[in-house]
Amino acid sequence: MLISSAIAFLALCATTFAVQPIEVKGSDFVNSVTGNRFQLIGVAYQPGGSSGYDPASGLDPLSNGTVCLRDAALMQRLGVNAIRVYNVDPDLNHDLCASIFNAVGIYMLIDVNSPLVGQSINRAEPWTTYTSTYLNRTFAVVEAFKSYENTLLFFAGNEVINDVPSGGVVPPYMRAVTRDLKNYIAKHSTRSIPVGYSAADVREILVDTSNYLQCTTTPGDSDPSRVDIFALNSYSWCGESSFTTSGYDVLISDFTNTSVPVFFSEYGCNMPAPRVFTEVPVIYGPLMTPVLSGGMVYEYSEEPDDYGLVLINSNGSAQILVDYDTLQKQFDTLNVTYLQDLPAQNVSVSPPTCTSSLITTPGFINNFTIPDVPPGAQTLIDNGISPAPSGKMVPVTATKVSQVVQQSNGEVIQNLQITILADDQSNNPDGATSTSSGASPSATKKKNGGEVLKSSVSVLLGVALFVAAWTSLL
Ligand SMILES: *[C@@H]1O[C@H](CO)[C@@H](O)[C@H](O)[C@H]1NC(C)=O
Ligand SMILES: *[C@@H]1O[C@H](CO)[C@@H](O)[C@H](O)[C@H]1NC(C)=O
Ligand SMILES: *[C@@H]1O[C@H](CO)[C@@H](O)[C@H](O)[C@H]1NC(C)=O
Ligand SMILES: *[C@@H]1O[C@H](CO)[C@@H](O)[C@H](O)[C@H]1NC(C)=O
Ligand SMILES: *[C@@H]1O[C@H](CO)[C@@H](O)[C@H](O)[C@H]1NC(C)=O
Ligand SMILES: *[C@@H]1O[C@H](CO)[C@@H](O)[C@H](O)[C@H]1NC(C)=O
Ligand SMILES: *[C@@H]1O[C@H](CO)[C@@H](O)[C@H](O)[C@H]1NC(C)=O
Repeated sequence: MLISSAIAFLALCATTFAVQPIEVKGSDFVNSVTGNRFQLIGVAYQPGGSSGYDPASGLDPLSNGTVCLRDAALMQRLGVNAIRVYNVDPDLNHDLCASIFNAVGIYMLIDVNSPLVGQSINRAEPWTTYTSTYLNRTFAVVEAFKSYENTLLFFAGNEVINDVPSGGVVPPYMRAVTRDLKNYIAKHSTRSIPVGYSAADVREILVDTSNYLQCTTTPGDSDPSRVDIFALNSYSWCGESSFTTSGYDVLISDFTNTSVPVFFSEYGCNMPAPRVFTEVPVIYGPLMTPVLSGGMVYEYSEEPDDYGLVLINSNGSAQILVDYDTLQKQFDTLNVTYLQDLPAQNVSVSPPTCTSSLITTPGFINNFTIPDVPPGAQTLIDNGISPAPSGKMVPVTATKVSQVVQQSNGEVIQNLQITILADDQSNNPDGATSTSSGASPSATKKKNGGEVLKSSVSVLLGVALFVAAWTSLL
């Protein structure tokens, strides 16, 4: 009995804990196990684009394991540790995709909205869309993703506040949605999952937006309507630019005193093309990392607007594009040991208190009274939605990519597969990766040595804890 339970416990460890949960502390993302700061090295992942999102098709970007396996293999090889997925259908099964990304050390940043009518906040008339049916949809996304350890955060909104007129009406609704999501998570999730906002980089209103969303109305106490993180979609570094030419210097000085983690929820200007990605060493260098927690490159798949790293054909085959190779070379210049081992520095920054003087742009709302929960929604928050979708980690057994994938030069990659990380690892770029080998994802190489020891230590620890718990029950 004891032995079989211990084996079950170990099997659970093997399928459940490939990444270490990331928490928000002050303005840092912190790895909950090591206590070190975490930097996002990510890509946006929405094959088909938002216009391709169609629940009637029974598909979303995380619903087909065969597709996710192919893309996870290419992302592992590229060196990313996170994906952002914009439109998901909470009623589909995401277990295999979530487990595949988890197994290769990739976190998921999930938007709770979709472009369909009633599934996002209307920026011109937010009051028409802030309803219990809308909230039910956002809570369903939470239910569908809350049980995956690699769900890193939820975005309550993306680019809803885009100009002064929307800045005049939307911010209280954004805080209200944030409040409702955070209250829902506090009540119905065993793990605290951060909720934040992804802003358009409209410099005129950026600081006001950030201050409005991150300030507290209850100083000294927690305020659920504050965002846990603030992200921006930034396209100001184009071609061979620089810290000052791109205006990154202004962003860094604007966010020096941020009370929540700030990162690029999108970056990667594509004019001129092909991209050179010279912003990468700067984003992860000494000028930016004191303030910024990394970013997400827009975007994995090639779509009509031409930001893709990989071309996906309708028959499932794929071809790596030249931007992928360039980005990989830039990632490979990063000292990841140094990056992911920075001690967390700013874990106890206090948020500013909400007052009208925080807001400087005429026309941007400076009233911090936010809408009440709409009729019917408090019951959903208190009791949970019904029926509630659910997700769980499943064993990842297939590792070989079945589709044909070509290098940027047309050569077919042989034996493309994912490498399941042994224990607790997130994926990272690796300077040693050769773009021509293709088959070998970066994560295996440098991890083997130290890894074996580390995983057997944690297995022993797991057994010891299990035996201790079992003994105390008797
Ligand atoms: C709430 O969400 C669940 C799960 O997606 C769905 O089954 C249910 O119909 C929704 N309820 C309402 C009132 O929209
Ligand atoms: C940041 O905080 C410091 C110390 O409180 C203050 O002197 C400085 O003006 C602030 N900077 C910004 C951009 O708000
Ligand atoms: C974090 O702390 C460092 C060192 O004290 C400081 O330079 C930096 O500006 C702080 N960053 C934020 C976002 O508060
Ligand atoms: C898949 O589609 C691509 C692009 O149309 C084509 O080049 C390739 O031959 C097709 N592969 C298979 C196996 O049909
Ligand atoms: C999943 O994707 C694969 C490869 O593109 C395809 O062959 C398969 O039919 C898809 N499965 C579903 C359920 O759509
Ligand atoms: C990377 O960072 C680590 C930890 O700070 C340091 O020991 C190592 O020398 C650095 N490697 C290179 C190539 O700079
Ligand atoms: C702030 O907004 C609330 C709700 O719309 C309103 O009742 C209140 O009068 C406003 N306060 C000020 C100072 O305008």
